[in-house]
Amino acid sequence: MTAEPSRATLIDGKAFAAGLVERVTAATARLQSAHGLKPGLAVVIVGEDPASQVYVRNKGERTQAAGMRSDTHRLSETTPQADLLALIATLNADSGIHGILVQLPLPSHIDTAAVLAAIDPDKDVDGFHVVNVGRLAVGLPGLVPCTPLGCLMLLKNALGDLTGLNAVIVGRSNIVGKPMAQLLLAESCTVTIAHSRTRDLPALCRTADILVAAVGRPEMIRGDWIRPGATVIDVGINRLPARDPARAAEGKTRLVGDVAFDEAAVVAQYVTPVPGGVGPMTIACLLANTYTAACRAAGVTPERLDA
Ligand code: GUN
Repeated sequence: MTAEPSRATLIDGKAFAAGLVERVTAATARLQSAHGLKPGLAVVIVGEDPASQVYVRNKGERTQAAGMRSDTHRLSETTPQADLLALIATLNADSGIHGILVQLPLPSHIDTAAVLAAIDPDKDVDGFHVVNVGRLAVGLPGLVPCTPLGCLMLLKNALGDLTGLNAVIVGRSNIVGKPMAQLLLAESCTVTIAHSRTRDLPALCRTADILVAAVGRPEMIRGDWIRPGATVIDVGINRLPARDPARAAEGKTRLVGDVAFDEAAVVAQYVTPVPGGVGPMTIACLLANTYTAACRAAGVTPERLDA
């Protein structure tokens, strides 16, 4: 009889995110009772992209449920850039709004960089403004992009101190890969960013104590790319046809990450599932950033939310 291969411990992002949302909600209630301050988040969506519509509706509902003010601005696909910039200027000047999020992607006639640059950095709860990118790079307090912030919380919760660990991040996006590298560097990890042009990616991944996959390619990272005992954080959310051919024929899909989960689970020590891993952390961190931005705007020290 052969022994069952040992299985990785799942990092339950859904449960951790629920706890974080509870802490943000409680801290928000205390902020309101002690200081009369209700955090406000404005979400701006331009156009009719169905996936973006779902995300934006969800953000609005979750913001209200946390006891915050939620404003959603829905603009038509053909909105001129000048009108969007004018709305951002109004939101920047609104003292009841502490966070501004412009849902991406924007229609192609709009210059995304110009729009992100127009947001007051202290209200930039996405952490995409170059001022916040710079603050993160030099270690100043700012607002940190939600998905990598959520990944860091899960890593610290699973592993504790990250000092000296080798971290390999696959993916160099401004939204995940680059800020993830800065966050792990600040935790004294030895950080490598890999991407589509990296030579011998499997061998590089095998050097990782912490492997973060953020490439958007379904199940690209295989089990034999993972060092036994590593911690694997899968940021990917990809749709593949359902396993059952009859269901697939009906157009049914399943969600998979950038990591071949079943293979990873017999090699890694810790692994995030998809769904239920990193995904739920993003909106929880958006609420946390909105709370933090409101506190700073009022000169109140934010409560610790990460554990
Ligand atoms: N579209 C997909 N992810 C994001 C995100 O994190 N922030 C914004 N603003 N748009 C997105």
